[in-house]
Amino acid sequence: MYQMQNKIQPKVTLVGAGPGDLDLLTIKGAKALGGANVVLYDALANEEILTYAPKKSLKIFVGKRKGSHAYSQDQINQLIVDYALNYGNVVRLKGGDPFIFGRGSEEIEYIESFGISTYVVPGISSSIAVPANQGISLTKRGVSESFWVITGTTSDRKLSKDVALAAQSSATVVILMGMSKLAQIVALFQNESKGETPVAIIQNGTMQNEKIGVGTINTIGQVVAESGLGSPAIIVIGEVVRESNKLKGFYGKFVSNKVCARE
Ligand SMILES: C[S@@+](CC[C@H](N)C(=O)[O-])C[C@H]1O[C@@H](n2cnc3c(N)ncnc32)[C@H](O)[C@@H]1O
Repeated sequence: MYQMQNKIQPKVTLVGAGPGDLDLLTIKGAKALGGANVVLYDALANEEILTYAPKKSLKIFVGKRKGSHAYSQDQINQLIVDYALNYGNVVRLKGGDPFIFGRGSEEIEYIESFGISTYVVPGISSSIAVPANQGISLTKRGVSESFWVITGTTSDRKLSKDVALAAQSSATVVILMGMSKLAQIVALFQNESKGETPVAIIQNGTMQNEKIGVGTINTIGQVVAESGLGSPAIIVIGEVVRESNKLKGFYGKFVSNKVCARE
């Protein structure tokens, strides 16, 4: 399938692409891309990032996108190894940070089983950057002492059991991949008498088409239904949402929900 070349030094670097805003790629990530012979990339929020790779490098899409063939994780693992053995310097580019719900460690284990060196360039995870872009401080002295980052959809397509545990805590709760389970999430917080807890849902965070819905546990379902907010989105639950300098006005007095496009 691939042309064999001599004296190839296989090497794979997992690079975190950040949450979407091109400027939130790290300098180290841009440098790694600049040296790539091959870039294997997922469905990125912003494909402009590929312009950091040399023009002559191979750029191979291996993500899931409507209407296109989706590779299984096993196929992706094998492609990375094949390209590294045949082309040398491979960058595996993944959204956010490779180790936050990114299957980065699985890929590393497989690649290293072939004796190929791997490196990781951390990325700015959407779990922290997307709330921050809306002025939401996930921890705040006197308001929140910790935050949980949880997947809304586990490998068996279920809501993580950790959401129920997090609902019992006083932590800020950040849920990725949770939009299809919003009703279940709301019910878990209502069971803990947390119906008035503020919630923000941010779709396409840090991008030009960013959209946000704000409400409380009791109102957020209606906010989503009326606004058409969808994936990819981050759900942030906790008093820190109310504290955001950008969102504060919407919780002042009695106003409890809001939907807006990026300002
Ligand atoms: C498979 S996870 C990968 C997360 C990634 N590794 C990270 O650190 O950001 C994909 C989920 O991350 C969230 N996500 C990623 N980028 C986002 C963005 N720009 N805006 C909102 N949510 C985002 C969504 O919940 C999406 O379904």
